[in-house]
Amino acid sequence: MSGFSPLDFRLMAMSQFQILTLLCQTAAWTISNNLNQFLAQQMVTSQAVSREVFEAQVVALVEQMQTTTIANVKYIDQLVSLIIFNSGLMSALNTNSYFIYSTSSSNYYITHGGYLVSNYIDTDPYSPNYTYCECVVTSNCTYQAGYYRYSYRSFYAIAYMPYTPPMFIVPGMLVGCLPHDSMLQSTLECFYNRSCLDLIGISQAITPLNATAPSQFRVNTTVNTLFEQLFVETWQNSSNFTRYYNACHPEACSYTYTQRGNFLYAMTMLLSLIGGLTTVLGILVPLLVKFICGLLIKCRGNAVPTIENDPAGR
Ligand SMILES: *[C@@H]1O[C@H](CO)[C@@H](O)[C@H](O)[C@H]1NC(C)=O
Ligand SMILES: *[C@@H]1O[C@H](CO)[C@@H](O)[C@H](O)[C@H]1NC(C)=O
Ligand SMILES: *[C@@H]1O[C@H](CO)[C@@H](O)[C@H](O)[C@H]1NC(C)=O
Ligand SMILES: *[C@@H]1O[C@H](CO)[C@@H](O)[C@H](O)[C@H]1NC(C)=O
Ligand SMILES: *[C@@H]1O[C@H](CO)[C@@H](O)[C@H](O)[C@H]1NC(C)=O
Ligand SMILES: *[C@@H]1O[C@H](CO)[C@@H](O)[C@H](O)[C@H]1NC(C)=O
Ligand SMILES: *[C@@H]1O[C@H](CO)[C@@H](O)[C@H](O)[C@H]1NC(C)=O
Repeated sequence: MSGFSPLDFRLMAMSQFQILTLLCQTAAWTISNNLNQFLAQQMVTSQAVSREVFEAQVVALVEQMQTTTIANVKYIDQLVSLIIFNSGLMSALNTNSYFIYSTSSSNYYITHGGYLVSNYIDTDPYSPNYTYCECVVTSNCTYQAGYYRYSYRSFYAIAYMPYTPPMFIVPGMLVGCLPHDSMLQSTLECFYNRSCLDLIGISQAITPLNATAPSQFRVNTTVNTLFEQLFVETWQNSSNFTRYYNACHPEACSYTYTQRGNFLYAMTMLLSLIGGLTTVLGILVPLLVKFICGLLIKCRGNAVPTIENDPAGR
């Protein structure tokens, strides 16, 4: 166990950087894995689709791949944290819980870590305004990391207290119950600043990050946000419709042609309709007239004998 107190950056830094490396590796590994899986997929269509539909489909597929990749990584990370938290594992750094030997009862018992919430600079730890975050309740309690001369926890105090003022604060870095949870809530602010890197003893050979370089991530972006984006600045996708079409090898091609009718077209249609109607009626009407006349004559012919039926018998 190190001689630094639980609030000291020097205690947790090593583990936190290991966690950061692990998060990067996990992101890179997951992306390459999912990309290989994605590229092994085949796009099946019963008919060759148009360029627009093809491109829209590709964009949708890429988007789906991205979201599932991100969701899977987050899910696994949360699962592992939850398992660690609920198993009550004791960090070797003594930050989330530790054994205490009580001389009065000559017995060991477990004490859980606690951290002051948000008021990093306050000098009066006994102020009633302090709120505490306890590692037994949640694993994401944090406190501003720095070089503290000394920090302590009295027998009755709930949280670790810094002996203030600290030698210096490491901007953006947080310490807490577990290196994983505090690293996710930290930002990489210090790594944009040479004088900050000097303060924490990072070699001159390491060039600081460039804060003015175009990036979707700000200086104050948390590691959690970086990780949720899998440390990816931009995703680029490209598709080749020509190659899709050639691979699809359609056997037949047909198209329909739609056009708005114009005035001349409408007039032609109307006239030809009238002409056609005239011809058809010219044939049909005489036939109809003949038929009706025939019907009338037949009716009259039938009526004649009843009239001639004379009751006088002549
Ligand atoms: C893929 O690229 C197209 C154009 O290049 C872009 O409009 C689309 O948003 C990109 N899709 C994804 C998921 O990045
Ligand atoms: C506690 O907070 C109240 C209101 O926010 C303030 O008036 C008071 O001075 C604070 N006490 C201490 C000891 O800081
Ligand atoms: C800490 O964890 C609790 C639940 O365990 C959650 O509600 C809260 O939002 C978390 N806080 C941060 C800063 O992640
Ligand atoms: C760089 O870090 C030093 C030491 O932490 C700090 O005093 C200074 O304000 C920082 N500069 C910028 C531009 O953030
Ligand atoms: C930081 O990025 C900006 C914009 O890309 C560039 O002009 C500048 O030279 C970079 N600075 C360093 C120190 O690399
Ligand atoms: C990060 O910095 C930008 C300005 O550089 C600011 O608008 C934003 O609110 C900050 N975000 C956080 C979470 O502090
Ligand atoms: C698409 O593929 C064809 C055939 O392989 C190739 O000739 C063409 O240059 C490619 N187009 C693009 C934009 O890559």
